[in-house]
Amino acid sequence: MKLPFWPLKRDYALELLTIGDSAAIAPLHREDFVRPWSGEEFSQLLEQDTVFGFAVREVGHGTEAPAGFVLARLAAGEAEILTIAVSRAHRRHGLGWRLMDAVLRELHAQRAEALFLEVDETNAPAIALYRKFGFHEVGKRPNYYQSAQGATGALVMRLDLR
Ligand SMILES: CC(C)(COP(=O)(O)OP(=O)(O)OC[C@H]1O[C@@H](n2cnc3c(N)ncnc32)[C@H](O)[C@@H]1OP(=O)(O)O)[C@@H](O)C(=O)NCCC(=O)NCCS
Repeated sequence: MKLPFWPLKRDYALELLTIGDSAAIAPLHREDFVRPWSGEEFSQLLEQDTVFGFAVREVGHGTEAPAGFVLARLAAGEAEILTIAVSRAHRRHGLGWRLMDAVLRELHAQRAEALFLEVDETNAPAIALYRKFGFHEVGKRPNYYQSAQGATGALVMRLDLR
């Protein structure tokens, strides 16, 4: 008798992002961003006291690059998402949600007032993710992102934390 094939459920661990992850997250950023940040740029950001982030790594793949990460900055009660990315091979497994949730938990613990972000107005997956958390649009920057396909606008979104 042939047994049915059940794909194994993937298991991911959430970790605090460290300077040591800088080189590993740069290729992940490069998968999707027109102007990717280098490992050096990530490490300069992570050196700053106001910057923090989280990574998700597939359990059992400890030495490999994270499957996703988020970087945020908190200063004077206001926070911003600097960037978030989940590797294409790991999308739609709830990792973007877990990363944003981790940032929000940290911001609540720090008693932050609001979280802002900018997102390309054509980036439907990211906008859907942010709306699910309750972000709403507070501004628009026309022709903000330039790519070979032309210019697109940025939505500025805000989430009240208090
Ligand atoms: C945006 C991104 C981080 C989402 O990561 P993800 O791990 O695939 O997202 P999740 O599986 O946690 O999805 C959470 C919710 O986001 C929304 N979402 C995510 N991907 C989506 C898609 N392709 N289409 C529509 N909605 C989507 C859904 O509401 C989803 O909830 P659901 O699964 O219950 O429908 C990922 O697509 C990514 O890295 N994109 C490239 C980088 C990027 O655009 N970053 C944002 C820059 S501002």
